[in-house]
Amino acid sequence: MKIKNICCIGAGYVGGPTMAVIAYKCPDIQIHVVDLNEDRIMRWNDINLDNLPIFEPGLAEIVKRCRGKNLHFSTEVDMRIRKSDMVFISVNTPTKKYGLGAGKASDLKWVEACARKVANNASGHTIVVEKSTLPVRTAEVIKSILDASKRDSKDSELKSFDVLSNPEFLAEGTAINDLLYPDRVLIGGENQLSINALSEIYSNWVSKEKILHTNIWSSELAKLTANAFLAQRISSINAIGALCEATGADVREVSRAIGADSRIGSKFLDAGPGFGGSCFKKDILNLVYLSEYFGLHEVAKFWESVVTLNSWHQTRISKLITKNLFGTISGKKIIILGFAFKGNTNDTRESAAIQICKDLLDEGAFLFIHDPKVSKEQIIKDLGSEPLDQDNKQIFNLNGKGNWEFINDINESFFEADAIVILTEWEEYKEINWDLAEKRMRKPAWIFDSRSLIDPKDIKKNDFNFWRIGDGS
Ligand code: NAD
Ligand code: UGA
Repeated sequence: MKIKNICCIGAGYVGGPTMAVIAYKCPDIQIHVVDLNEDRIMRWNDINLDNLPIFEPGLAEIVKRCRGKNLHFSTEVDMRIRKSDMVFISVNTPTKKYGLGAGKASDLKWVEACARKVANNASGHTIVVEKSTLPVRTAEVIKSILDASKRDSKDSELKSFDVLSNPEFLAEGTAINDLLYPDRVLIGGENQLSINALSEIYSNWVSKEKILHTNIWSSELAKLTANAFLAQRISSINAIGALCEATGADVREVSRAIGADSRIGSKFLDAGPGFGGSCFKKDILNLVYLSEYFGLHEVAKFWESVVTLNSWHQTRISKLITKNLFGTISGKKIIILGFAFKGNTNDTRESAAIQICKDLLDEGAFLFIHDPKVSKEQIIKDLGSEPLDQDNKQIFNLNGKGNWEFINDINESFFEADAIVILTEWEEYKEINWDLAEKRMRKPAWIFDSRSLIDPKDIKKNDFNFWRIGDGS
């Protein structure tokens, strides 16, 4: 079975880059990425590639090459499903906010809506591919919706479906590289012809040994497990970082020492402000929910502790900032460097910066927030408050309540600042003019580096108090 027409429902952080790379590597396949969000689609079609809705190194170049040739973005969901022989479901699967399983289970509302759209609009044989991260046995739900449509439809004999699981392992900021050179591609399914059809697409650029075939439930569970293991490493190293600070050890040295053990490995051992991103927390909570559902309460508790440690760690950082600034930050000026959940992305979902900034605002601080890729509008949404109007600074000073401002020029913000807090590892923060900062800041001036971005040697000659994550020395 040779795939000629693909439709991907969901033009987000996964759907967009994934389809761009497939289009780039498979010029004979026509790919239509569809979404209900008109604004997002408009931005995918923007002539100015700086306006793409997602910032990923290498993405704009690929979009430039393929868009309008074999890569298309539109809101024509029904029509594109009808014309496709393979449909990827790449929509959001956030944690449920209410109802059964609220706070832990994944909300499959959008996935179910897609399954119904496919059921109503598909024609001929359609392979439905789960690209979204889903709880184990979701394929069963999708299949039963698709099968019901065959029973209802007048032309049922012309419709047939097969469901595959093909979870995505890309990380934001390195998405294009991860897609071009994946560690593995995972395909779960039962029908060999469909599995082969999807494998053939990937084999255009991924070697055969890296394309793994499993049963559909293993594939769904492997995705949740991979994220849980990765997040667990971060909570582990952040827990050890706190112990380093208390004991005089240095977490970077501990990481290097344990990472040299090939059984442990050196990746994902950087202590930081706590993991963020749209998926780690939601996927672990989903795993917790599944474990509870199957009566495995100890398993549920084990994984839940990874999330609990992460939340505690974020609060620990905001508390230690306040403590070091003489126990009160009311009216103090604190520069926040970085709001994205990690470097090289404009994504702020679950960013540690959100909780840390909210905590500091609750204590009455005046935050000057900088991020090279995150917009002021996004920060307003995340913090749930408007920035201070320049003209109202006096009001701020009078009532002593916390407030914030968005800044473009870091150097200009140094004047009379009490502290600088580094929360995202943007390369440009390595180039900060510390001499100028020292000259302009109010003394005693503090630097809090939660990303180990600063080499202590670079600020040794300056008059700063310096806190670095996991540094007890
Ligand atoms: P996203 O929120 O960026 O994008 C999802 C898109 O789906 C949105 O643009 C939304 O408008 C669209 N959508 C929702 N319902 C729709 C419908 N019925 N019809 C058409 N469009 C619809 O989400 P994302 O970050 O791309 O994540 C998608 C899935 O991939 C999630 O399950 C996530 O867990 C998983 N995942 C994400 C990443 C990541 O790095 N973000 C990595 C691997 C896997
Ligand atoms: C993560 C996984 O790495 C991907 O494999 C997966 O596909 C994706 O989730 C998903 O399912 O959404 P992502 O969230 O984009 O990717 O980013 P990561 O690089 O994993 O970072 C997650 C968080 O952990 C960030 O806040 C990052 O700063 C933090 N982190 C990471 C550390 O604090 N220390 C580290 O050593 C590594």
